[in-house]
This record gives sequence, C-alpha cells and structure tokens, in this order.
Amino acid sequence: MSKKVVILAGGGGSSKTSLLVAWIASQMAGSDIEIENVRLADLDCRALGSFDLADPGVARMLALVNAAHGVIVATPIYKASFAGVVKLALDVLPQFGLAGKAVLPVATAGSLAHALALDYALRPVLQSMGARYIVQSTVASEADWVANEMGPSLLAHTQAMLSRAVEHFAFALDSRVEVLQLGSPRVLMEP
Ligand SMILES: Cc1cc2nc3c(=O)[nH]c(=O)nc-3n(C[C@H](O)[C@H](O)[C@H](O)COP(=O)(O)O)c2cc1C
Repeated sequence: MSKKVVILAGGGGSSKTSLLVAWIASQMAGSDIEIENVRLADLDCRALGSFDLADPGVARMLALVNAAHGVIVATPIYKASFAGVVKLALDVLPQFGLAGKAVLPVATAGSLAHALALDYALRPVLQSMGARYIVQSTVASEADWVANEMGPSLLAHTQAMLSRAVEHFAFALDSRVEVLQLGSPRVLMEP
C-alpha cells in the first residue's frame, strides 16, 4: 500500500527551505510514497492565527495531515528557533494531530549555531502531539550550498547526509511491529 506524506514547509517561494523541500521530494519520487507539499506562507495567517478551521487552506492542511502516514516539517531557523508560521500551523492541528505518524524535522539556517533549535524547540512540540517516531533532525546551513548558474544547490556531502535522513524517514513510515517499536522506552512484546 502506498504511504502518504505531507510536507509542512515554512519559508517563501524561492527560499532555501523550498529548495531543500524540492530536493527531498525529488529523492522520494518514484517510490511508493505520495507527497503533498503545503507551503505555509501561502496560507492565510489571520485564519491560522484565529483557528479558522473553515478557511479552505487551513482545512486542506488539516485533511492532508490527518490522512498522512508521515509528516516532514521543514523550516528556516529564524531568531534561534523554528519559524513562527510553522508554530501557527502546528497550533491549528489537533492536540494529538501527529499520533501514529512518522515525522522528519529539517531546517535551513545561516550557520550551525542554532541547529539544535530543531531538537530543543521543535521536537518537544512534535512529541507532545503524539508523533510515533521522530527521525533525526537535519539542518542545512549556508555552508551546505554552492552557487551555480541555476541558483543554489546542495553540496554532495550534504545530499548524502539528507539522503540518510530521508531513508530513515521512509523506513519509519513502515508499520511493521519492529518499526513501531523504534524509539519506544518500553519493550512492547515478549521475546
Ligand atoms: C529574520 C531572520 C532571522 C534569522 N535568524 C537566524 C538565526 O537565528 N540563526 C541562524 O542560523 N540563521 C538565521 N537566519 C538565516 C536563515 O535561517 C537562513 O538564511 C535560511 O536558509 C533562510 O531560509 P529561507 O530562505 O527559507 O527563508 C535568519 C534569517 C532571517 C531572514
């Protein structure tokens, strides 16, 4: 059965985060994974901020996340944390809106100085929303890009690092029992 993945992406249209998201989506293309990308900057901020669940953009995001087996949360690092629009989107989701889902947190940043923001700020939010398995967070800083005539592209070693994260995420989407136990603090089955 194919797996559904939704990408919740902060950052603007031609932003580094959008490029990162496009690269991740290209890595998953051709696999048995259906990907929907929600560009959070395109949603109505007033609707997000006032929990207007009837707003078409907000309603679409809620439906996509509800139906997804996995969620990729992609954010720029702003002011030492993940982007505010990402928090707005997570706030609109139900309290346990990530229950049973695999989650891959990724970010772009100026430097690695605030790379841990994904772990100290974003990860607790995702955990509180019931995420089943949160894959290792991955950050691409300015040093991970090279400029060429087509615009910025990711360095080969950064692509390799991200490939591993995408691979782990694809594995976590699986619902075999041993995968379900990943990250569990308790042994769930007798040997
Ligand atoms: C308002 C603002 C605040 C930023 N704050 C940080 C920061 O605290 N730490 C950091 O590493 N990079 C910071 N950056 C750099 C961005 O994280 C980096 O340029 C990122 O790739 C931008 O992603 P975007 O193009 O998708 O917006 C900041 C950039 C902006 C515009």
